[in-house]
Amino acid sequence: MQRIIHTLTEFEEEAARFSHSLAPTVKWATLITLSGELGAGKTAFTKAVARTLGVTETVNSPTFVLEKIYKFGSANSEFERLIHIDAYRLEKGSDLASLGFDEIMQEPENLILLEWPEKVADALVKFTAKTISIEVLPDNARKLVYG
Ligand SMILES: Nc1ncnc2c1ncn2[C@@H]1O[C@H](COP(=O)(O)OP(=O)(O)OP(=O)(O)O)[C@@H](O)[C@H]1O
Ligand SMILES: [Mg+2]
Repeated sequence: MQRIIHTLTEFEEEAARFSHSLAPTVKWATLITLSGELGAGKTAFTKAVARTLGVTETVNSPTFVLEKIYKFGSANSEFERLIHIDAYRLEKGSDLASLGFDEIMQEPENLILLEWPEKVADALVKFTAKTISIEVLPDNARKLVYG
């Protein structure tokens, strides 16, 4: 599915709509990968998902810390934690292991949003992910492609 989004507000509304479609599975964490160039809106999308599902803490880009974990207010989400990972600075799939990635994938209560999946693609092949790619169009519009 594809969608063209024209403003940041519309983009945040789209992320909110997407959030409502998410529910934990029985066996694995829910993994969402976010692809797109620098500044495409991967973090903006994550922030909107977090806000929609009841994270009250401010969500900032985890570029320097690689991973940040937020607790959900239980009223809004069936998940317990939102885990935001930025793989931009990683070089290979095994670098994700140091973040305990395989372990966090084994907890269905986790909602994981991962920016720059291309950097660690070999570590992700064994998992099912919902993929989102964000393309920047003229006039600050965005094309969102869901896979
Ligand atoms: N239509 C739009 N959709 C999304 N973001 C927009 C839009 N218009 C403007 N922006 C701005 O674009 C920027 C997107 O930055 P963001 O940090 O989300 O990018 P990113 O994809 O996470 O980049 P990085 O790879 O550096 O982590 C934000 O400052 C946001 O306000
Ligand atoms: Mg980002």
